[in-house]
Amino acid sequence: ARVHNYTWDITYQYKSQDCYKKLAITINGMTPGPVISATEGDTIIVNVINKLFMENVAIHWHSIRQIGTPWMDGADGVSQCATIPGDTFTYQFVVDKAGTYMYHSHYGVQKKSGPYGLIKVTVPTGKSEPFKYDDDDHSIVLTDWYHSSSYEEATKLTSLPFVWIGEPQSLLINGRGKYDCSNLNTNVCDSTNPECVPYSLTVVPGKTYRLRIASLTSLSALSFQIEGHNLTVVEADGQYVEPFVTKNLYIYSGETYSVLVTANQDSSRNYWMSTNVVGPAWNDKESRINQSLAIKAHRGFIQSPPSTSDKVILLLNTQNTIQGRTRWSLNNVSHTLPDTPYLIALKKNWTDVFDQTPPPGSYDFQNYDIYNVPGNTNSTSSTSIYRLEFNSTVDVILQNANTMNVNNSETHPWHLHGHDFWVLGYGDGKFNMSSDVRKYNLVDPIMKSTVPLHPYGWTALRFRADNPGIWLFHCHIEAHFLMGMLVLFESGSEMVGEPPQQNMGCGRTKSLIKP
Ligand code: C2O
Ligand code: CU
Repeated sequence: ARVHNYTWDITYQYKSQDCYKKLAITINGMTPGPVISATEGDTIIVNVINKLFMENVAIHWHSIRQIGTPWMDGADGVSQCATIPGDTFTYQFVVDKAGTYMYHSHYGVQKKSGPYGLIKVTVPTGKSEPFKYDDDDHSIVLTDWYHSSSYEEATKLTSLPFVWIGEPQSLLINGRGKYDCSNLNTNVCDSTNPECVPYSLTVVPGKTYRLRIASLTSLSALSFQIEGHNLTVVEADGQYVEPFVTKNLYIYSGETYSVLVTANQDSSRNYWMSTNVVGPAWNDKESRINQSLAIKAHRGFIQSPPSTSDKVILLLNTQNTIQGRTRWSLNNVSHTLPDTPYLIALKKNWTDVFDQTPPPGSYDFQNYDIYNVPGNTNSTSSTSIYRLEFNSTVDVILQNANTMNVNNSETHPWHLHGHDFWVLGYGDGKFNMSSDVRKYNLVDPIMKSTVPLHPYGWTALRFRADNPGIWLFHCHIEAHFLMGMLVLFESGSEMVGEPPQQNMGCGRTKSLIKP
């Protein structure tokens, strides 16, 4: 196995990603940042140098499980104190499974400003993948782009009255999009700027290509398609999929897919590769649920889930308020991160750092009306955590509901750090503890680390709490995360080693810093 060493300068730069010039946060001057390319079993070392003048940074390696390296997860407030300007954090971890992954900032809503990219892990020689393609593979990073800054967004979302950030100004494919500059001065928006020339892929007729696609959107649920071509889905979140063909791939923030495309159309012309926002959320729900259900483990690579679980956690997703401010809650608890990272607090037994009473494991689902605006929108905030027995099997049932607006329910892409989970099922309406459990797919469920919770629907997952530490499970929509749509799962944290100095510096950890 090899060691790959990277040094990344995180800096502000003016970028014209969609022809409109705005301040972006870049990695070595780029957004998306460089593709990390390695082979299964390799070690990745990234020296992240914070050269931003006025804000912290933390980089998360999304879908890399960090088995035995929980200090490297890059989650501000959970595994580390964010890195202050002028400091360097050295991330070191092993990429233990071939597949397509991503990295991104995990500090506030900083991701939307640009520090993100793709991680590609190839199979070692001697191992083969259950599909073939010609040529090399190609990375496709999908993002949504806002002309306002992360600061403005965070302020709007937490102010009274609440100001919604709205739809993005552009969608970007590999950092390129097109904003309508027609009414703007060319100093601000110039449609002839070479920085916003669309990404293009030159293909040879008859050849089959592998596209590694990652969605790093801040908000948007996307559909991706190539005019006139079929996409064969073969990989999802680093697991092989029983291949299926589709015209358009639905992809939610935090998900990755590999698709195969054959250049079998008219070679005298060009074809558009495009992405668009799906929605309004509920009107095209059926085709989206159908595609979610079509994603199953490849028959040669099935990892069977345990047939039963030791614990079931039901999480009702609701939008509500705390002292008039809009929040998102799970079982009527809206979560906030403590000033001292959880993992350090657990290790040091600082019981006053976070709320010690566990959050509720379910809600009154007999009586809760998921189709209407909540009667009482008052929620509470907490820093509490779910403690899971090490190595136990846990089911999580995500239940969606109506928001505070009439006839509205949103899509939430839920992401688990430190583990892959089996996707046991998706359904419409209220989850039924007897009949829906009997319909669980225990035969060939896909393992993933991000799944959508569809509007007014439910999603059921199962995972083994086999990675010592404390791990975030959260909605990957940055705004929802900021507004409390997260929980924490702790298990075996007593087995974790001592916190490295570089993870400290904030909250109570200041007392631990040695000169
Ligand atoms: Cu990609 Cu906690 O996130
Ligand atoms: Cu959400």
